[in-house]
Amino acid sequence: MANKYHIITYGCQMNKSDSERIATVLKSSGYSPTPNRKEADLVVINVCSIRQSALDRVYGLISNIKNKKSRLYQGLDEQIKTQIKNQKIILTGCILPKDKEKLKNKVDLIFDINQLTNLPQMLSQTNTNLSRHLAIKEFDNLAIKQLNNYLSIKPCYSTFPFAYLPIMTGCNNFCTYCVVPYTRGREVSRPVEEIICEVKELIKRGYKKIILLGQNVNSYKSKTPNSKLKKVNFPKLLKIVNNLPGDFWLTFITSHPQDFSDELIETMTKCEKVMPYLHLPVQSGDNQVLKKMNRHYTVAHYKELIKKIREKFAKIREGFEKNICISTDIIVGFPGETKKQFAQTARLMREIKFDMAYIAKYSPRPGTAATKLKDNIPLKEKEKRWKILAKILEKTALKNNKKYLNKTVEVLIEKQSGNSLYGQTKTFKNVKVYSPEQKITGEIVEVKIKKISPWGLAGELIKN
Ligand code: SAH
Ligand code: SF4
Ligand code: F3S
Repeated sequence: MANKYHIITYGCQMNKSDSERIATVLKSSGYSPTPNRKEADLVVINVCSIRQSALDRVYGLISNIKNKKSRLYQGLDEQIKTQIKNQKIILTGCILPKDKEKLKNKVDLIFDINQLTNLPQMLSQTNTNLSRHLAIKEFDNLAIKQLNNYLSIKPCYSTFPFAYLPIMTGCNNFCTYCVVPYTRGREVSRPVEEIICEVKELIKRGYKKIILLGQNVNSYKSKTPNSKLKKVNFPKLLKIVNNLPGDFWLTFITSHPQDFSDELIETMTKCEKVMPYLHLPVQSGDNQVLKKMNRHYTVAHYKELIKKIREKFAKIREGFEKNICISTDIIVGFPGETKKQFAQTARLMREIKFDMAYIAKYSPRPGTAATKLKDNIPLKEKEKRWKILAKILEKTALKNNKKYLNKTVEVLIEKQSGNSLYGQTKTFKNVKVYSPEQKITGEIVEVKIKKISPWGLAGELIKN
């Protein structure tokens, strides 16, 4: 019987995409996936450390698995006992060195995601003293072994009809609150040829939405030696992908306002496959706070960027594509954030009228520069500030969605459940489609919007 693995993924799209590559490596080492954690020989936890709450969930899960192991152990037959006793927990993803030390003795293996190509060897070393259930097949997939960057591993895509496609990993920005430069290291861009290959493969397999990933896609630089495509920056890459033949939508996350160039605005608007959607984290609406965060832009610069982007889309695109959907990230309660400074963020939110905002309460991360500042905003006050922003968002998002009422829009169907279909517009709005008819996931259909809420739209299928 083949050994089974079960992957649990925390964190952002980058981790989700990494898990798709972990799956490839495990499959080529003779493991098969199981949706049931209990019957897995190998439980892989892909960790996120962006906030303490994310990490606490990992600690919770590990002790949960271990408790269950000891509880289930009583009164079970020998074979299941052995299975459970030998279940291995391995960790990867974004883990700070201090946490690695703490977690080391709680799990069987911690590996750096950059070392993914070596995972089979690492596993076989960990397993030398274990039962036959864990005897790992000799790693013979030379194609994977010889790759020097784990991103070159072909992923087992798991989100049809859309796919995450990392174009780079790591970050050089060192925002003072953020762990990413410490957990993922410095920026590394993937060769443009490799990205093109992956996109072509996705198009061939019928994928309809491609999401280019990077901690800061704006700093993408193709560094392929001996290549004609050596000097490809992000706007050029976007254009190359847009011009590949096929019927698909294209988008990217995440961009940094400090280096969002006019060339990128021009390219976004003119490339017809690029979705009228932009996630542009602002973090704060106060210049002093932004400075303390090491964000390298001002509120005025951010507002000017949004204005330019909105104007360009309104001018160049047609119909609903004229209204670009804009989302952001905001941190409330950064060390020393005064009530006045927070009020500036609330003001900015009212002004910009975001379609979506991921609002986070500041969480001190060991080793980052901001930990030198006192985390002096009490949790209660952070919660209060969070609620104020969430209310503003609810209003602006609802107002923005009103434009869709009684209009017909194109929707990419992403899943089916019961009598309904679920998908997204090209502007990244979630749509529930009431439909007694079966439509296949991955189709782009026309929907008449009958209901709206701040968080999405609902409507009926238009029959062709
Ligand atoms: N690369 C992206 C963001 C990656 S992290 C960017 O530059 O915007 C995702 C979001 O998590 C950040 O935008 C930020 O809003 C939030 N975040 C990061 N560190 C945090 C911390 N210590 N406390 C609270 N929120 C944090
Ligand atoms: Fe973190 Fe800043 Fe890099 Fe984003 S740009 S990953 S917030 S350091
Ligand atoms: Fe978390 Fe790492 Fe993403 S810290 S948010 S999984 S880059």
